[in-house]
This record gives sequence, C-alpha cells and structure tokens, in this order.
Amino acid sequence: MIYQVYPRSFADANGDGTGDLEGVRSRLPYLAELGVDALWFTPWYRSPQADGGYDVADYRAIDPAFGTLADAERLIADAAALGIRTIVDIVPNHVSAEHPWFVEALAAEPGDPARDRFWFRDGLGESGEIAPTAWTSSFSGPTWTRTAGPDGTPGQWYLHLFASEQPDLNWNHPEVMAEHEAVLRFWYDRGAAGVRIDSASMLAKDPELPELAEHHEPGTHPHLDRDEVHDVYRRWRKIADSYPEPRVLIGEVWLPETERFVRYLRDDEMHMAFNFDFMTAPWACEAIRSSITTTFEAHRGVDAPPTWVLSNHDITRPVTRYGREDTSFDFAAKRFGVPTDLALGRRRARAAALLTAALPGVLYIYQGDELGLPEVEDLPEGARQDPMHHRSGGTDPGRDGCRVPLPWTRTGPNHGFSGTAAEPWLPQPADWGSHAVEAQQGDPASTLSLYREALRLRRTEAALRGTDFAWRESEPGVLAFRRGEDLTCVVNFGDAPVDLPDHAAVLIGSAEIQGDRLPGEAAAWLRT
Ligand code: GLC
Repeated sequence: MIYQVYPRSFADANGDGTGDLEGVRSRLPYLAELGVDALWFTPWYRSPQADGGYDVADYRAIDPAFGTLADAERLIADAAALGIRTIVDIVPNHVSAEHPWFVEALAAEPGDPARDRFWFRDGLGESGEIAPTAWTSSFSGPTWTRTAGPDGTPGQWYLHLFASEQPDLNWNHPEVMAEHEAVLRFWYDRGAAGVRIDSASMLAKDPELPELAEHHEPGTHPHLDRDEVHDVYRRWRKIADSYPEPRVLIGEVWLPETERFVRYLRDDEMHMAFNFDFMTAPWACEAIRSSITTTFEAHRGVDAPPTWVLSNHDITRPVTRYGREDTSFDFAAKRFGVPTDLALGRRRARAAALLTAALPGVLYIYQGDELGLPEVEDLPEGARQDPMHHRSGGTDPGRDGCRVPLPWTRTGPNHGFSGTAAEPWLPQPADWGSHAVEAQQGDPASTLSLYREALRLRRTEAALRGTDFAWRESEPGVLAFRRGEDLTCVVNFGDAPVDLPDHAAVLIGSAEIQGDRLPGEAAAWLRT
C-alpha cells in the first residue's frame, strides 16, 4: 500500500503552522502501524507555493518551510529502516516562474536562446495583443500570459497549461531533457525508490502550437498525449533500471481512452499509473463493476499492476463525494453548496475502503482518508489558496478542502497538528478533533480501526496477496468477487440489507453485521 503524504498538512514539528519533514519523521510509527509499504510525497522542493509546490523553483532543494535536504535524507533513511520506501514527485511539464531558467528567460530579449527552454511567442493582432492560441488552461482561463519589459512595455507571451506562475517547459530542448534526467538521478541516488510523474501526458507539444481542432488523430493533439512523450519515459526507464535495486516510475496519466493510457505502461516505460477511471467512477454497482473489469482488461496486455485509488490531493474527499446525489468526480462540475449526506457518504467510503483493499494490484491511500475526513467546504474565502479556485472567478471551490491539516489529538492547539498555538496554514473546522487519530485509535468501530484491520488482513491473507480474482454471481446492486481459494468480498450498493453468500466466517465488515445479512451501503470480507 502506498500512502500519499501532503507534507504541508501532515504534521508540523517546528510549530509554525505548516507541516514539515520532521513532522512526518516523528509520525513514522503511525505510518508503520497502518501498514504502509511506501510513502509518496507531493512536491517538497523549494517553491513559492503558487500551486501547492507544483511550481518548483529548485528541484534539488527542500522548501525551507518543510525543512532541509538533510531532513529529507534522514526521513528517507528512517522510513527505510521501518521497511517503508520513499516516492518523490517529479514535475516535468513546468517550473515555477521563480525558477532561475524562467527568470533568465524573462530578462532576455525575444529570440534569445534563454527563451527556448520555454514556449515564448509573439502575440497575434496589430500590436501582439492577442494570445497566440485560444487554448484553455486546466485551471480555467487562458494558457498564455503576456510579458512586460522593465518599463512596462508589453512583450511576448509565454505558455502555461496551468497557472501563469507555472511556465511550460519546451521538451524539444536538450537541456530540459538533460536537467530532468539529472534530477531523477539526484533523488534516486538519495534513496528514493520511485518517482510519481506529474502531468505525465502533457510534456510534448506540437512546435507549431496550432489551434485545437474538432478532432485530433491519437497522438497528434497539440499538447496532450503526443506520441513523442513516450521517448522521455523510455529514457527514464533506462535510468531507473540502471540501479542495483531498480527504481520505479509512476505516472499521473489522465486520459479517457484506455488504449492510450496503457501505452505508458509498456515494458520499457512506466511501472504503473494511477487508475483515474476507477477514482472518478460513481459509487454505483454497475459503474464500479465495469471500471474494475476495464482495468483488468487494460492491464492484461502489459506487465504493470492495476492501481486502486479513491482520492488524492486534487479530489473531493470520498466521504463527501459519496454523500451526494452525483457521486462521480469531475473537476469541471465542482460547485459550492451541493447537498451532502455525510453519514451516508461515510458508510459508502468505508465500504469503498474494503472494496479497494480487496482488489489485486497496488493500493493508494491519501492521507486522512484512513480517518474518514470529509472535504472541508466552508473554508473562509481569505484562507483559500488554490489557483483552481481563484482562476475560476470563485465558482470552483478548488482543492483546499481536501488539504486541511490532519487532526492528531481530540483537543489541544490545532488538534495536535502543530501542538503549538500557531495558526495552521489552512484553518481546521471546529469539530476536527472528533476525527483525530487519538479519538479513533481505541475505538474498534472507527474508520481508522477499519483501515488498520483491513490492511493487516491484506498483508496476512494468502488469498489477498496473490492475483487470483473472479466475479461471483450476485443479486442486482451487489458486487461479489472471490480472491484466491477462500476469500470473498461482497459490496452492497443498495440501502436495504441483503443475504450474505455461504461462509465460514466474516473477516471484516464496514458496518455491523447481524446474522447472515449485509446491511445497505456496506462491504464485508468472508472466509468461504
Ligand atoms: C497535477 C497535480 C496537481 C497540480 C497539477 C499541476 O495534476 O496533481 O496538484 O496542480 O498537476 O502541476
């Protein structure tokens, strides 16, 4: 199981209201007890934090708010001593506007080679006042920002598929390629067992930067999933494989077509990629069944394990999402004020935890999901930091609500996140203490206890360690599958109880099981 740490919000050792690497190190026993095999850290590099660290100013330095390079090395080593590997986040599509390359490019004249590492273009229109293309940023708004000279005279435009503080790199430039290979080695040499590759299908661009058409043949879209991008990962795979203990490449590949997605998982490319098809699926029996089936079929042709993901630092927390009428996830559909039944969402999120933990492949858990944290929807406007919110003109709530600092203690200053009276970088809701680790760990009915027990069984049950999987017949609204010789997972998506199949014992249930009936919105693992 790979556990995703958002360092800014995990634990704050120096008491300044921002999480840090020493905070993570101090909580390694918690992570070991949960049964973590590896930690994936969202970017911890020096960054102005215009996009939560995905705007990197120096790939070889830790952001001072999080600690030092020595702290990172100590954390990697201490985790390794507990059998926990480290995965770092590599952000190759763009850098921070404060990265020395971009600072140099901005200071240079149009046509200067320093600008070639990015996508600088003259504007259209009589005085260059129109952006070179009408593309839309993943964070809404235009993908181009116009530069201005020291005296304010408007100049060229530069491309950014995300926020304007994140200029896109030109991957046709040999230095861009060489620099990232060096960065990869830098972290592998420091003991990182793997890298998570941010926005992995967006690096390659059509150098002509054409306008978007109605339809693009696969591999020829101007800035998404272009065929050339695979050359990058073939080179990276060679680097990963050059270590005595091979290192891993994990892709953030958001593509609707499975055939295009699995191309990233060919033998000489990445080792695995996040299963966003599953993550965004609604909590509905047939939709989940079909996503699982598609996942298996897609991975059959490649030597990469399927992955199971319920959320991450970009996604509405499952407890909240599953408590809504529309339980699917879509960035474009996010709005304020969606009616939510958190009790229902929590039942479903617990069932989803058992479902995912029973599937063969690699399980990812985002920090706080094991506590059943809901999305924090009522952050004060002034506290919101996410460019997705601000660039939408305030209609998109953004992603801050799933990034609120974790509660460790029931009471006390910021629920043990800092242990000092420092204001956390995002405010915690008044009832945060009821979700705290301290409040849940002694309670066998808590979500934390459910996760711990499920993860323990996942390690100890031979049936779950293998890859054997088969659907079992079940009534409508119920999913059932067999793992190995003697384990069955049953998920009831309906609200009424259903009969459990014949079994020798119930290993674990997401809700209390009375007799041979599985309650509505619940899951169980059975010894059969
Ligand atoms: C990825 C990250 C997200 C970030 C974006 C731009 O999607 O997960 O948090 O904002 O890339 O780097």
